[in-house]
Amino acid sequence: MTDPQTTTLPEGLTVAVLGGTGPQGRGLARRFAGAGVRVVLGSRDAGRAQATAADLAAATSGDVTGEDNAAAARAGDVVVVAVPWEGHAELLAGLRGELAGKVVVDCVNPLGFDKRGAFALAVPEGSAAEQAAGLLPDSRVVAAFHHVSAVVLEDPGVAEVDTDVMVLGEDREATDLVQALASAVPGMRGVYAGRLRNAHQVEALTANLISVNRRYKAHAGLRVTDV
Ligand SMILES: NC(=O)c1ccc[n+]([C@@H]2O[C@H](COP(=O)([O-])OP(=O)(O)OC[C@H]3O[C@@H](n4cnc5c(N)ncnc54)[C@H](OP(=O)(O)O)[C@@H]3O)[C@@H](O)[C@H]2O)c1
Repeated sequence: MTDPQTTTLPEGLTVAVLGGTGPQGRGLARRFAGAGVRVVLGSRDAGRAQATAADLAAATSGDVTGEDNAAAARAGDVVVVAVPWEGHAELLAGLRGELAGKVVVDCVNPLGFDKRGAFALAVPEGSAAEQAAGLLPDSRVVAAFHHVSAVVLEDPGVAEVDTDVMVLGEDREATDLVQALASAVPGMRGVYAGRLRNAHQVEALTANLISVNRRYKAHAGLRVTDV
Protein backbone atom coordinates (compact mmCIF):
# COMPACT_ATOMS: atom_id res chain seq x y z
CA MET A 1 0.00 0.00 0.00
CA THR A 2 1.35 3.46 -0.86
CA ASP A 3 1.58 5.75 2.11
CA PRO A 4 0.06 9.16 1.32
CA GLN A 5 2.24 10.65 4.02
CA THR A 6 5.24 9.94 1.83
CA THR A 7 3.60 10.04 -1.61
CA THR A 8 5.15 12.59 -3.93
CA LEU A 9 2.70 15.10 -5.32
CA PRO A 10 2.02 14.86 -9.07
CA GLU A 11 4.38 16.96 -11.16
CA GLY A 12 2.84 20.32 -12.05
CA LEU A 13 -0.07 20.07 -9.60
CA THR A 14 -1.96 23.36 -9.30
CA VAL A 15 -3.83 24.17 -6.12
CA ALA A 16 -6.44 26.93 -6.26
CA VAL A 17 -7.69 28.61 -3.09
CA LEU A 18 -11.14 30.20 -3.22
CA GLY A 19 -11.33 33.02 -0.68
CA GLY A 20 -7.56 33.08 -0.91
CA THR A 21 -7.32 36.68 0.30
CA GLY A 22 -8.38 35.80 3.87
CA PRO A 23 -6.09 34.57 6.64
CA GLN A 24 -6.81 30.86 6.16
CA GLY A 25 -6.53 30.93 2.38
CA ARG A 26 -3.39 33.09 2.48
CA GLY A 27 -1.87 30.86 5.13
CA LEU A 28 -2.50 27.60 3.27
CA ALA A 29 -1.31 29.20 0.03
CA ARG A 30 1.91 30.35 1.73
CA ARG A 31 2.64 26.82 2.92
CA PHE A 32 1.75 25.11 -0.36
CA ALA A 33 3.83 27.60 -2.35
CA GLY A 34 6.69 27.13 0.10
CA ALA A 35 6.48 23.38 -0.59
CA GLY A 36 6.93 24.05 -4.32
CA VAL A 37 3.28 23.70 -5.34
CA ARG A 38 1.85 26.09 -7.96
CA VAL A 39 -0.94 28.13 -6.33
CA VAL A 40 -3.73 30.25 -7.81
CA LEU A 41 -5.59 32.45 -5.35
CA GLY A 42 -9.25 33.21 -5.96
CA SER A 43 -11.31 36.15 -4.78
CA ARG A 44 -14.55 37.89 -5.63
CA ASP A 45 -12.24 40.62 -6.89
CA ALA A 46 -9.44 39.51 -9.23
CA GLY A 47 -7.36 42.58 -8.39
CA ARG A 48 -7.45 41.72 -4.68
CA ALA A 49 -6.33 38.17 -5.44
CA GLN A 50 -3.50 39.43 -7.65
CA ALA A 51 -2.24 41.83 -4.96
CA THR A 52 -2.30 39.09 -2.30
CA ALA A 53 -0.64 36.65 -4.71
CA ALA A 54 2.16 39.11 -5.47
CA ASP A 55 2.89 39.45 -1.74
CA LEU A 56 2.93 35.67 -1.27
CA ALA A 57 5.07 35.06 -4.35
CA ALA A 58 7.62 37.53 -3.01
CA ALA A 59 7.51 36.02 0.49
CA THR A 60 7.88 32.39 -0.63
CA SER A 61 9.74 32.69 -3.95
CA GLY A 62 6.92 30.43 -5.12
CA ASP A 63 4.57 30.39 -8.10
CA VAL A 64 1.50 32.24 -6.80
CA THR A 65 -0.97 34.11 -9.01
CA GLY A 66 -4.43 35.59 -8.51
CA GLU A 67 -7.73 35.38 -10.39
CA ASP A 68 -11.40 35.76 -9.68
CA ASN A 69 -12.89 32.70 -7.98
CA ALA A 70 -14.29 31.21 -11.20
CA ALA A 71 -10.98 31.45 -13.07
CA ALA A 72 -9.10 30.10 -10.07
CA ALA A 73 -11.53 27.16 -9.86
CA ARG A 74 -10.88 26.41 -13.53
CA ALA A 75 -7.11 26.61 -13.03
CA GLY A 76 -6.86 24.29 -10.03
CA ASP A 77 -6.47 20.52 -10.07
CA VAL A 78 -7.19 20.71 -6.36
CA VAL A 79 -9.43 23.58 -5.23
CA VAL A 80 -9.47 24.59 -1.57
CA VAL A 81 -12.60 26.38 -0.33
CA ALA A 82 -11.59 28.94 2.31
CA VAL A 83 -14.55 31.30 2.48
CA PRO A 84 -16.74 32.02 5.53
CA TRP A 85 -19.62 29.62 6.17
CA GLU A 86 -22.06 32.44 5.38
CA GLY A 87 -20.85 32.57 1.75
CA HIS A 88 -20.18 28.85 1.27
CA ALA A 89 -23.36 27.58 -0.38
CA GLU A 90 -23.81 30.54 -2.71
CA LEU A 91 -20.21 30.45 -3.93
CA LEU A 92 -20.18 26.71 -4.60
CA ALA A 93 -23.60 26.63 -6.24
CA GLY A 94 -22.30 29.20 -8.73
CA LEU A 95 -19.14 27.22 -9.54
CA ARG A 96 -20.56 23.75 -10.17
CA GLY A 97 -19.38 23.74 -13.79
CA GLU A 98 -15.90 25.14 -13.05
CA LEU A 99 -15.40 22.61 -10.27
CA ALA A 100 -16.57 19.56 -12.21
CA GLY A 101 -13.92 16.83 -12.14
CA LYS A 102 -11.82 18.63 -9.52
CA VAL A 103 -10.80 17.57 -6.05
CA VAL A 104 -12.52 20.19 -3.89
CA VAL A 105 -11.09 20.56 -0.39
CA ASP A 106 -13.46 22.08 2.14
CA CYS A 107 -11.95 23.55 5.32
CA VAL A 108 -15.00 25.56 6.31
CA ASN A 109 -16.10 25.46 9.96
CA PRO A 110 -19.76 26.37 10.48
CA LEU A 111 -19.43 28.12 13.83
CA GLY A 112 -21.32 30.71 15.79
CA PHE A 113 -19.82 33.05 18.36
CA ASP A 114 -21.43 34.64 21.39
CA LYS A 115 -20.19 35.97 24.70
CA ARG A 116 -19.58 32.39 25.91
CA GLY A 117 -17.29 31.67 22.97
CA ALA A 118 -17.49 29.58 19.81
CA PHE A 119 -20.08 26.88 19.18
CA ALA A 120 -20.96 24.54 16.32
CA LEU A 121 -23.93 25.50 14.16
CA ALA A 122 -26.48 22.90 13.08
CA VAL A 123 -26.13 22.28 9.35
CA PRO A 124 -29.12 20.75 7.55
CA GLU A 125 -26.86 18.67 5.27
CA GLY A 126 -24.81 17.47 8.28
CA SER A 127 -21.65 19.49 7.66
CA ALA A 128 -20.17 22.11 5.38
CA ALA A 129 -18.36 19.32 3.50
CA GLU A 130 -21.60 17.41 2.90
CA GLN A 131 -23.26 20.61 1.76
CA ALA A 132 -20.39 21.03 -0.72
CA ALA A 133 -20.77 17.44 -1.92
CA GLY A 134 -24.50 18.01 -2.45
CA LEU A 135 -23.92 21.19 -4.42
CA LEU A 136 -21.03 19.73 -6.46
CA PRO A 137 -22.14 16.27 -7.62
CA ASP A 138 -19.50 16.27 -10.38
CA SER A 139 -16.58 17.02 -8.01
CA ARG A 140 -14.66 14.87 -5.55
CA VAL A 141 -15.15 16.65 -2.23
CA VAL A 142 -12.64 16.14 0.56
CA ALA A 143 -12.76 17.71 4.03
CA ALA A 144 -9.41 18.83 5.50
CA PHE A 145 -7.42 21.64 7.16
CA HIS A 146 -10.17 22.59 9.67
CA HIS A 147 -7.89 22.68 12.68
CA VAL A 148 -4.86 24.43 11.24
CA SER A 149 -4.47 27.90 12.70
CA ALA A 150 -4.19 30.69 10.15
CA VAL A 151 -1.99 32.59 12.61
CA VAL A 152 0.53 29.75 12.57
CA LEU A 153 0.29 29.26 8.80
CA GLU A 154 0.91 32.95 8.17
CA ASP A 155 3.78 33.32 10.63
CA PRO A 156 7.03 33.42 8.62
CA GLY A 157 8.87 32.58 11.85
CA VAL A 158 7.19 29.15 11.99
CA ALA A 159 9.36 26.79 9.93
CA GLU A 160 7.36 23.64 10.73
CA VAL A 161 3.60 23.53 11.22
CA ASP A 162 3.28 21.13 14.15
CA THR A 163 -0.06 19.45 13.48
CA ASP A 164 -1.87 16.55 11.90
CA VAL A 165 -4.61 17.24 9.38
CA MET A 166 -7.68 15.02 9.42
CA VAL A 167 -8.66 14.19 5.84
CA LEU A 168 -12.16 12.87 5.10
CA GLY A 169 -13.87 11.85 1.90
CA GLU A 170 -15.55 9.18 -0.18
CA ASP A 171 -12.88 8.82 -2.87
CA ARG A 172 -9.66 7.10 -1.85
CA GLU A 173 -7.56 8.61 -4.63
CA ALA A 174 -8.75 12.10 -3.68
CA THR A 175 -8.12 11.66 0.06
CA ASP A 176 -4.68 10.19 -0.71
CA LEU A 177 -3.85 13.26 -2.81
CA VAL A 178 -4.98 15.67 -0.09
CA GLN A 179 -3.05 13.70 2.55
CA ALA A 180 0.03 14.04 0.35
CA LEU A 181 -0.62 17.77 -0.04
CA ALA A 182 -0.84 18.22 3.73
CA SER A 183 2.25 16.10 4.25
CA ALA A 184 4.20 18.21 1.75
CA VAL A 185 4.13 21.06 4.29
CA PRO A 186 7.04 20.71 6.72
CA GLY A 187 5.80 19.50 10.11
CA MET A 188 2.29 18.74 8.88
CA ARG A 189 0.88 15.27 8.29
CA GLY A 190 -2.33 14.24 6.56
CA VAL A 191 -4.23 11.43 8.29
CA TYR A 192 -7.27 9.71 6.78
CA ALA A 193 -10.17 10.17 9.22
CA GLY A 194 -13.29 8.74 7.61
CA ARG A 195 -16.09 9.53 5.25
CA LEU A 196 -17.91 12.82 4.85
CA ARG A 197 -20.74 11.73 7.15
CA ASN A 198 -18.17 12.14 9.92
CA ALA A 199 -17.13 15.65 8.88
CA HIS A 200 -19.60 17.35 11.22
CA GLN A 201 -17.69 16.60 14.40
CA VAL A 202 -14.35 17.46 12.76
CA GLU A 203 -15.72 20.88 11.83
CA ALA A 204 -17.39 21.26 15.23
CA LEU A 205 -14.22 20.32 17.12
CA THR A 206 -12.79 23.64 15.98
CA ALA A 207 -15.03 25.29 18.60
CA ASN A 208 -13.20 23.28 21.27
CA LEU A 209 -9.82 24.31 19.87
CA ILE A 210 -10.89 27.95 19.95
CA SER A 211 -11.78 27.46 23.64
CA VAL A 212 -8.32 25.94 24.21
CA ASN A 213 -6.72 28.89 22.43
CA ARG A 214 -8.60 31.41 24.55
CA ARG A 215 -7.79 29.73 27.85
CA TYR A 216 -4.14 29.01 27.12
CA LYS A 217 -3.34 31.93 24.79
CA ALA A 218 -2.30 29.34 22.19
CA HIS A 219 -2.79 28.36 18.56
CA ALA A 220 -3.52 24.73 19.27
CA GLY A 221 -3.21 21.94 16.71
CA LEU A 222 -3.97 18.23 16.95
CA ARG A 223 -1.88 15.07 16.79
CA VAL A 224 -3.29 11.59 16.18
CA THR A 225 -1.14 9.02 18.00
CA ASP A 226 -0.17 5.48 17.01
CA VAL A 227 -0.48 6.03 13.26
N1 LIG B 1 -8.90 31.54 10.28
C1 LIG B 1 -8.56 30.32 10.70
O1 LIG B 1 -7.65 30.15 11.56
C2 LIG B 1 -9.24 29.10 10.12
C3 LIG B 1 -8.75 27.83 10.46
C4 LIG B 1 -9.37 26.70 9.89
C5 LIG B 1 -10.45 26.86 9.04
N2 LIG B 1 -10.90 28.11 8.75
C6 LIG B 1 -12.05 28.26 7.86
O2 LIG B 1 -11.57 28.84 6.68
C7 LIG B 1 -12.55 29.71 6.12
C8 LIG B 1 -11.89 31.06 5.87
O3 LIG B 1 -11.45 31.60 7.08
P1 LIG B 1 -10.85 33.08 7.14
O4 LIG B 1 -10.57 33.37 8.55
O5 LIG B 1 -9.77 33.24 6.13
O6 LIG B 1 -12.18 33.90 6.67
P2 LIG B 1 -12.43 35.37 6.11
O7 LIG B 1 -11.20 36.17 6.21
O8 LIG B 1 -13.65 35.88 6.79
O9 LIG B 1 -12.81 35.08 4.59
C9 LIG B 1 -11.90 34.61 3.64
C10 LIG B 1 -12.16 35.27 2.29
O10 LIG B 1 -13.42 34.85 1.81
C11 LIG B 1 -13.96 35.87 0.97
N3 LIG B 1 -15.36 36.08 1.35
C12 LIG B 1 -15.84 36.74 2.44
N4 LIG B 1 -17.18 36.68 2.49
C13 LIG B 1 -17.56 35.97 1.40
C14 LIG B 1 -18.82 35.60 0.87
N5 LIG B 1 -19.96 35.93 1.48
N6 LIG B 1 -18.84 34.87 -0.29
C15 LIG B 1 -17.69 34.54 -0.92
N7 LIG B 1 -16.46 34.90 -0.48
C16 LIG B 1 -16.40 35.59 0.67
C17 LIG B 1 -13.12 37.12 1.18
O11 LIG B 1 -12.31 37.27 0.04
P3 LIG B 1 -12.69 38.31 -1.14
O12 LIG B 1 -13.40 39.47 -0.49
O13 LIG B 1 -11.35 38.66 -1.67
O14 LIG B 1 -13.55 37.54 -2.09
C18 LIG B 1 -12.24 36.78 2.36
O15 LIG B 1 -10.94 37.36 2.28
C19 LIG B 1 -13.70 29.78 7.13
O16 LIG B 1 -14.77 29.01 6.68
C20 LIG B 1 -13.12 29.18 8.40
O17 LIG B 1 -14.09 28.46 9.14
C21 LIG B 1 -10.32 29.23 9.26
